[in-house]
Amino acid sequence: MRYLTFALAKGRLAKKSLEIFEKLGITCEEMKDEKTRKLIFVNEELKLKFFLAKASDVPTYVEYGAADIGIVGSDTIIEEGRKLFEVVDLGIGKCRMCVCGPKSAKELLKHHEMIRVASKYPKIAKDYFYNKKHQTVEIIKLNGSVELAPLVGLSEVIVDIVETGSTLRENGLEVLEEICPLSARMVVNQVSMKMENERIMKLIKELKEVL
Ligand code: PRP
Repeated sequence: MRYLTFALAKGRLAKKSLEIFEKLGITCEEMKDEKTRKLIFVNEELKLKFFLAKASDVPTYVEYGAADIGIVGSDTIIEEGRKLFEVVDLGIGKCRMCVCGPKSAKELLKHHEMIRVASKYPKIAKDYFYNKKHQTVEIIKLNGSVELAPLVGLSEVIVDIVETGSTLRENGLEVLEEICPLSARMVVNQVSMKMENERIMKLIKELKEVL
């Protein structure tokens, strides 16, 4: 039996995904050690390997088959647009992709004005403004702390993830429009789905049962 390899998005999601896997009897004790600098973790008994990767890289590992299975947010899956099968909604990491900004920016969205939109998700932002709203905007790609952009005058609005809403509230910003709901998904390499169909289908079935 060959190893099945899992790529997990680093951070909150990885922790929660491992908790779900534990319910299926899939454990990886080594991985829980937060101080470890190890990158790959093996469960010899079940012939499984796990690694943690930056969320935006998870779909890449899965498309190329370096991982058979990935656990990653639907925001990243949409933004990366990789060829893979999305098989299970894990129902964790629930949040929303939104257009946010100061209250005063609401008007700019109504009148289709040419505005600047900062985002870690330029594809999602572009698709929303160009294809859904038919509003021509300038999209500025940022890599984090996107809420800063309207505060310092880089952009009028942002397209970003809102979970509890506290980052917005604490910075005098609000949700102006909602783009879509998001949650963590399990994705599968297209070849692995054929070659390891039995093992992967069993895992999907068991996952759905515990969710
Ligand atoms: C995300 C997101 C928001 C925040 C939303 O950022 O980009 O900034 O969480 O959460 P809230 O609604 O619960 O406040 P993240 O913590 O991933 O870091 P980043 O700023 O580097 O993107």
